[in-house]
Amino acid sequence: MDTRKSGFLAVLLIFISIALVKSEDPYHFFEWKVTYGTMSPLGVPQQVILINDKFPGPVINCTSNNNIVVNVFNNLDEPFLLTWNGIQHRKNSWVDGTPGTMCPIQPGTNFTYKFQVKDQIGTYYYFPTTAMHRAAGGIGVIQVHSRPLIPVPFDNPADEFAVVVGDWFNKGHKSLKNLLDGGNSIGRPDGVHINGKSAQVGASAEPSWTFEAGKTYRFRFCNVGMRTSVNFRFQGHDMKLVEVEGSHLMQNDYMSMDLHVGQCMSVLVTADQPPKDYYLVISSRFTKQPYSTVATIRYAGNSAPASPELPTPPPAGTLGIAWSINQFRSFRWNLTASAARPNPQGSYHYGQINITRTIKLVNSRSYIDGKLRFALNGVSHIDPKTPLKLVEYFGAADKEFKYNLIQDEPPADVEKNVKIAPNVLNGTYRNFVEIVFENRENTIQTYHLDGYSFFAVAIEPGKWAPEKRKNYNLEDAVSRHNVAVFPGCWAAVMTTLDNAGMWSLRSEMWERFYLGQQLYVSVLSPERSLRDEYSLPETTQLCGIVANLPKPPPYV
Ligand SMILES: *[C@@H]1O[C@H](CO)[C@@H](O)[C@H](O)[C@H]1NC(C)=O
Ligand SMILES: *[C@@H]1O[C@H](CO)[C@@H](O)[C@H](O)[C@H]1NC(C)=O
Ligand SMILES: *[C@@H]1O[C@H](CO)[C@@H](O)[C@H](O)[C@H]1NC(C)=O
Ligand SMILES: *[C@@H]1O[C@H](CO)[C@@H](O)[C@H](O)[C@H]1NC(C)=O
Ligand SMILES: *[C@@H]1O[C@H](CO)[C@@H](O)[C@H](O)[C@H]1NC(C)=O
Repeated sequence: MDTRKSGFLAVLLIFISIALVKSEDPYHFFEWKVTYGTMSPLGVPQQVILINDKFPGPVINCTSNNNIVVNVFNNLDEPFLLTWNGIQHRKNSWVDGTPGTMCPIQPGTNFTYKFQVKDQIGTYYYFPTTAMHRAAGGIGVIQVHSRPLIPVPFDNPADEFAVVVGDWFNKGHKSLKNLLDGGNSIGRPDGVHINGKSAQVGASAEPSWTFEAGKTYRFRFCNVGMRTSVNFRFQGHDMKLVEVEGSHLMQNDYMSMDLHVGQCMSVLVTADQPPKDYYLVISSRFTKQPYSTVATIRYAGNSAPASPELPTPPPAGTLGIAWSINQFRSFRWNLTASAARPNPQGSYHYGQINITRTIKLVNSRSYIDGKLRFALNGVSHIDPKTPLKLVEYFGAADKEFKYNLIQDEPPADVEKNVKIAPNVLNGTYRNFVEIVFENRENTIQTYHLDGYSFFAVAIEPGKWAPEKRKNYNLEDAVSRHNVAVFPGCWAAVMTTLDNAGMWSLRSEMWERFYLGQQLYVSVLSPERSLRDEYSLPETTQLCGIVANLPKPPPYV
């Protein structure tokens, strides 16, 4: 080899090694202590679940592709797990934190979650999936920023505020669980909260946020409640909706926003009003009994009280449902804005892909042996002793569950002969699937899929039929992870099953989740290849029937 060639090779090698060093994305380390504590979200002191002494828990503030390491110490008296709602865990359902993927963290022990927020931006949240812990706290926001070189379609806000909102029950999580285990509903909530607090108009409250005149702020809202849709609105200030669950939208101004259970969105608010206090209002949607609460925003240097006159809520009842569906339809993905990567859809577009499978899911509510259960297509899910993903990986799936107990088409009568069993669908790696949710009940549903985002292409009244596809938004539907299905309506979503793993598809309404309105989609890489899925991490806790089985050889 002549010297010029070898010199060139040396330079090339240096470039490659720089590239390799650069490809190690930054790490964020967290140490979280999960404990009980006392707080008064609705003014009544009660037991809550705290992370590092706080509810809401710490904000995970990171950037696309960052590595997140969270060492969780469970100091409760019960097994505990956190899931990272909306974080896709590419190739890595091992850390998804659902009962179908992980053994719970036993009381008095700790477990370290390690994951990467690969190719994602946006607003997400973490919460406990064990028992009814979600009703008591253990919840916080995850905000994923764009990498510095990726343009964001709005100016950098002066500050950003994480806001978890939702309904709240004064009964503790154990009482709620006892109700459900006894075959009863948890009933109605006692109120709604904003970041673990509630206040009524006129009560002198410390400001929750301070504005400087002329500046613009980003509020990241997540509805982390148990069952209640909410509407949020600011006195005197419009909101510009910029992001929903990981997608930048065509920016529109709104006076009020509906946020259904499990959904997250970011709005920009500009401090362009006379300096005084203003309320942020949260009110319940579609509930017989209305709930509301306020939080105070102060303009720096002024404390003139907020006006007692609150901005009007959207219409209730049937009109309100139409209003909310229209608002959903106004959300359009900004196709020219970069996502985590430029041109996230590559050279193909979801509207041009042929559907390889249609899964139609119908929810039901019924009593089995006198006990309340919820189901999808006639199967009410229960978790087996051993997490589904682990028994599947250890080759012992048939000891704990059967694949495909439900069909892709619902049975004629979804309430009849409901079966209680683990509900696992076999998904084919890389299939492009359409999932239709049809809600024949008279309450709103919301659904979430782990491991993926999906295109929410339609929500319509009535029953779904194949010819309804002509109404789909195949142009600029929002890529997100949660969809609402209004009473007597259906919703359709589409996604490519390109993320191998065992993924929870669930009602995000926690009573329904707990009593069976959920399933898992098993997406197996046909080749057991590291290209498609990570091997079982060394640190994974084993339990149930896999605790004493020999470990399968790692993927190669
Ligand atoms: C959150 O992360 C972004 C991007 O790295 C950074 O600009 C911002 O200052 C961080 N915010 C806080 C409160 O640490
Ligand atoms: C538990 O925490 C200790 C101390 O930080 C750490 O060394 C250990 O790796 C953790 N254990 C697990 C299973 O994550
Ligand atoms: C869409 O994104 C582009 C590129 O960032 C931006 O210039 C444009 O203003 C956005 N459009 C809307 C309507 O938000
Ligand atoms: C979709 O199916 C149609 C009809 O079978 C076929 O002509 C077309 O090439 C397919 N498109 C893609 C992208 O596979
Ligand atoms: C699941 O799907 C894969 C791919 O289509 C197939 O090879 C496998 O046999 C299926 N497994 C079951 C249990 O149906």
